[in-house]
Amino acid sequence: MTVRKRKGAIVGFGFIAEKGHLPAYQASEDLEIIAVADVSGSRRAWAAQLLPGVRIYEDVGSLLHCEQDLDFVDISTPPYAHAMVAKHALERGLHVLCEKPLATSIADAQGLLAQAEKQRRVLFPSHNYQHAPVIKAVRAILEAGTIGSVHSVTLNTFRNTHAKGVRDWNTNWRREKRYSGGGIAMDHGSHTFYLAFEWLRGYPTAVTAKMSTLGSFDTEDNYVCTLDFPTGIATAHLTWTAGNRKVIYTLHGDNGAIRVEDDELEISVMQGTPSDNPNQPTKWNIEKQSVSSKWMDASHSAWFSSLFEEFSEAIDQRDFVGKQAQDALHCMDVICTSYASANDGCRELPLHSFLS
Ligand SMILES: NC(=O)c1ccc[n+]([C@@H]2O[C@H](COP(=O)([O-])OP(=O)(O)OC[C@H]3O[C@@H](n4cnc5c(N)ncnc54)[C@H](O)[C@@H]3O)[C@@H](O)[C@H]2O)c1
Repeated sequence: MTVRKRKGAIVGFGFIAEKGHLPAYQASEDLEIIAVADVSGSRRAWAAQLLPGVRIYEDVGSLLHCEQDLDFVDISTPPYAHAMVAKHALERGLHVLCEKPLATSIADAQGLLAQAEKQRRVLFPSHNYQHAPVIKAVRAILEAGTIGSVHSVTLNTFRNTHAKGVRDWNTNWRREKRYSGGGIAMDHGSHTFYLAFEWLRGYPTAVTAKMSTLGSFDTEDNYVCTLDFPTGIATAHLTWTAGNRKVIYTLHGDNGAIRVEDDELEISVMQGTPSDNPNQPTKWNIEKQSVSSKWMDASHSAWFSSLFEEFSEAIDQRDFVGKQAQDALHCMDVICTSYASANDGCRELPLHSFLS
C-alpha cells in the first residue's frame, strides 16, 4: 500500500535546511518537500538545482498564497523571522516545524503556542540534541535507574567561533541582534536548557546569568547561568571564544554520575553508601563507553531523521502543543530572563510557570 507523504515547504534554504534537514526528508517515508522560499536569489537557484520539480518562491507570503496542497512548513530562517512565518503558517492551517529558538521573545513564543492550540495544528521545535545517539544513551541509563535521581547537572558548550550562515545572505547574522535576537544564549541556549529540563524532570523556577562580548558585535559571545529547579540545580557555560570545540555535560544522581564529553560517556556508580569513617573512602565502579554521535558535523544531519519521526507522530496523534512546544516556551523564558538578569547586575530573577 502506498501511503501519501505529508507535503512540506522549507522557508529559509540555508545551511541547516540543506545540510541537516534535506537529507532527512530525502530518507523519510512520511514527509516530502514540495516548495521552498528564500529571500536570496542564489539560494533559490541552488535549491532549484538540488530539488528538481520543487516550486521555488522569493518570500513566504507568495509561497503560502500559491501552495494549496501543503501539510506543513519547516522554518529554517534566522530567528528574527520564526514567529512571523509560524504565525502565517498556522493561520493557513499548516503544521509547523521550527528551528530553534522558537521566537525571540516570551510573548511571541506564548502567542504561537496559543495559536497552535486554537488552530489545532502541531507546533514542533527543532530540539535535535535530544536525538543525538549519546544523549539517547544517557536517557537509557537514567531510565534504568543506574545513578538514581539526578539533582545537579552542568552543561558546557565550547565553540571557537560562532556558527556561520551561508555566504549568500549574511554569514555573520548570529552577531547582529536584529536578525538573531541575541548571541550564544539565544543561539545555543535552547539545546542546553531542554536537556536540563529532561535531566532534572521539570522546569526551573529562577535564573541568574552573566554574559560578555569580546568582539565589536552587538550580541554576547560568552554566557554563564545558574538555574534553580524544584529537584536541584543546573549550571551552564556557553562560549564562542573557546580554545576547542566540545560539549561536556555532567549529571549527578543519588548513586552515581554520568559524564558526556562529545561521544565519550563515563558512568560512575557508587559501591555501597558513603561511610562516616574517613578510613573507608567511597568506591566507584566506572564504566566507559563511546557512542558515535558525529558532534563535529555542525549540521547534525544524522539526528534529524529521528526528530522528523517524532514530528510526524505528533501530527498523527494530534498532539498540537506537546512537551516539545512547552519546552521551547520555557527555553525562551530562560533565555529572555537571562538577558534581564545579566543587565541587572546578575540578579536572580524568577521564571514563569506558564500554568494555564
Ligand atoms: N538545530 C540545529 O542543530 C541547528 C544548527 C544550525 C542552525 N540552526 C538554526 O537554523 C536556523 C538557520 O540557521 P542557518 O545556520 O541555516 O542560517 P543560514 O544563514 O545558513 O540560512 C538562513 C537562510 O534563510 C534565508 N532567509 C533569511 N531571511 C529569510 C526570510 N525572511 N524568508 C525566507 N528566507 C530567509 C537566507 O537567505 C538563508 O538562505 C537558525 O534558527 C539556527 O538557529 C539549528
